[in-house]
Amino acid sequence: MILSHIVAASENDVIGVNNDLPWDIPEDLKFFREKTKGKALIMGRKTFESVGHPLPKRLNVVVSRQKDYHPEGAVVVPSVDEAIQICESKISEYGDEIFIIGGGQIFRDTINMVDIIYLTRIHKKYDGDIKYPNVNPLLFEQIERRDRKEPVPFSFLTYKRKNTF
Ligand SMILES: NC(=O)c1ccc[n+]([C@@H]2O[C@H](COP(=O)([O-])OP(=O)(O)OC[C@H]3O[C@@H](n4cnc5c(N)ncnc54)[C@H](OP(=O)(O)O)[C@@H]3O)[C@@H](O)[C@H]2O)c1
Repeated sequence: MILSHIVAASENDVIGVNNDLPWDIPEDLKFFREKTKGKALIMGRKTFESVGHPLPKRLNVVVSRQKDYHPEGAVVVPSVDEAIQICESKISEYGDEIFIIGGGQIFRDTINMVDIIYLTRIHKKYDGDIKYPNVNPLLFEQIERRDRKEPVPFSFLTYKRKNTF
């Protein structure tokens, strides 16, 4: 099983504002769609509500402490551990890479567990209320970088957890 983050963050680590994304970058949304198509996704309840609907052709696992929260098209679980267990039990259907897609709370709780981080780094500062944690260069190495210029300068970065043995 491979556990991955997929996230877009500004130069000052902002990922969200008022429960929405601070930017509109179509190529990044396309990257997200292609990368996660057919896969198992884990997300916090606020991210699920921000998207507004289950992401099609994917397993949508939503983490929430609310016992009476049962949105259509999603599996709701009370902890990240249970979310991972459900995704692991469905590897034959959705593949062995599990994508954690946010938001801030869920990223913070899982950055110590992930193997891969797909980070779209937008080379501009934004105001926002939700941030992505620091990617520790002692723990993660950058294995890929693809630069883009439109509609703002940004880079598709891939980080892999270093083998610490
Ligand atoms: N730029 C990006 O790549 C990106 C990606 C995703 C999201 N975002 C942005 O991030 C923002 C949302 O992030 P957020 O931090 O506010 O919320 P979030 O992480 O999406 O969701 C938080 C909710 O998840 C549940 N939760 C979190 N940790 C839990 C735990 N350990 N156990 C059980 N339940 C848990 C709780 O739901 P209940 O309150 O229901 O208990 C909590 O209120 C939005 O602005 C969104 O647009 C950005």
